[in-house]
Amino acid sequence: MAIILGIESSCDDTSAAVIADGVICSNIVANQTVHQEYGGVVPELASRAHQQNIIPVVHKALKQAGIAKEDLSAVAFTRGPGLLGSLLVGTSFAKGFSTALDIPLIAVNHLQAHVLAHFIKEDADDESRPNFPFLCLLVSGGNSQIIKVDSYSKMEIMGQTIDDAAGEAFDKCAKVMGLPYPGGPVVDKLAKLGNAHKFKFNKPRIAGYDYSFSGLKTSFLYFLRDELKKDADFIEKNKEDLCASLQKTIVDILMDKLRQAAKDSNINEVAVAGGVSANSGLRASFEDHANRYGWKIHIPKFEYTTDNAAMVAITGYYKYLEGEFTDKSVTPYARTSI
Ligand code: KG4
Repeated sequence: MAIILGIESSCDDTSAAVIADGVICSNIVANQTVHQEYGGVVPELASRAHQQNIIPVVHKALKQAGIAKEDLSAVAFTRGPGLLGSLLVGTSFAKGFSTALDIPLIAVNHLQAHVLAHFIKEDADDESRPNFPFLCLLVSGGNSQIIKVDSYSKMEIMGQTIDDAAGEAFDKCAKVMGLPYPGGPVVDKLAKLGNAHKFKFNKPRIAGYDYSFSGLKTSFLYFLRDELKKDADFIEKNKEDLCASLQKTIVDILMDKLRQAAKDSNINEVAVAGGVSANSGLRASFEDHANRYGWKIHIPKFEYTTDNAAMVAITGYYKYLEGEFTDKSVTPYARTSI
């Protein structure tokens, strides 16, 4: 049996998970609340919080899984992309732990891990995984990509954002409305109470399968500025409709390109991953596409949408099977592609 400990520390969540032969045994996430008052993640504070969290989180993950550290087959960790100081904490811990236990160390690409989260089994009989090749829409605070997934290790980016990510569009527009950080979940909640057709925002015209969200952010800002001149309470009076209309625009932008990519590549198995995949409007649109275009869709459980170590452990598991181990001299990288 292959038992993998996964470690994730790329941004502001410290997480550890245990996966045995592809089946989830535990997935512990310690969120960092220290950033809330700053309206965004403060890298230095994130690194310090990871240092405080990492040992208790790993301890809890092993305990909940009922696994002794001596039973582990390998330690997998997020090497990047992410915040360098944060990544260093997970990387250093993983190196030390694998050295002490004398077991292999496995470096994992965070973006690849988001995609492979779809292969985490809830139990030994779980067969809900996607079939290759499939398309994966990876949408988070830092990425918006359409990925063609040919195998566990062969992935090709068909299109990606040329500026802001979809999560950033949610967060920045929420900030303009005076909503708390991170704005994505708040917009989602308010959108459920609003009319998505009340306001129209322009969609970008970008060639191919690439995305752009900076124009939407600017037009949203100017629209509010003009309306606030006429009525100082405009945001307060229209908060739900603004959120619903904004969410619809972002979801439509994402789905228009994804639909085109699915059509052109003749692939109808389509997955979504990353923090923004928690969005109820995006999930509803996936369901709608399944009904309308016969897509076979894969939507992750909520706990696997935001940053988590289960996705790192499952990626580590497939690398373990291939014998893809990492030298102990490995260093993290802040930027990298899939
Ligand atoms: O993957 P993730 O946890 O990590 C980063 O890339 O940082 O994604 C976080 C992003 C944030 O921008 C957050 O606002 C967005 O995902 N997000 C949402 C929702 N939940 C999280 N956006 C829209 N609707 C949601 N329900």
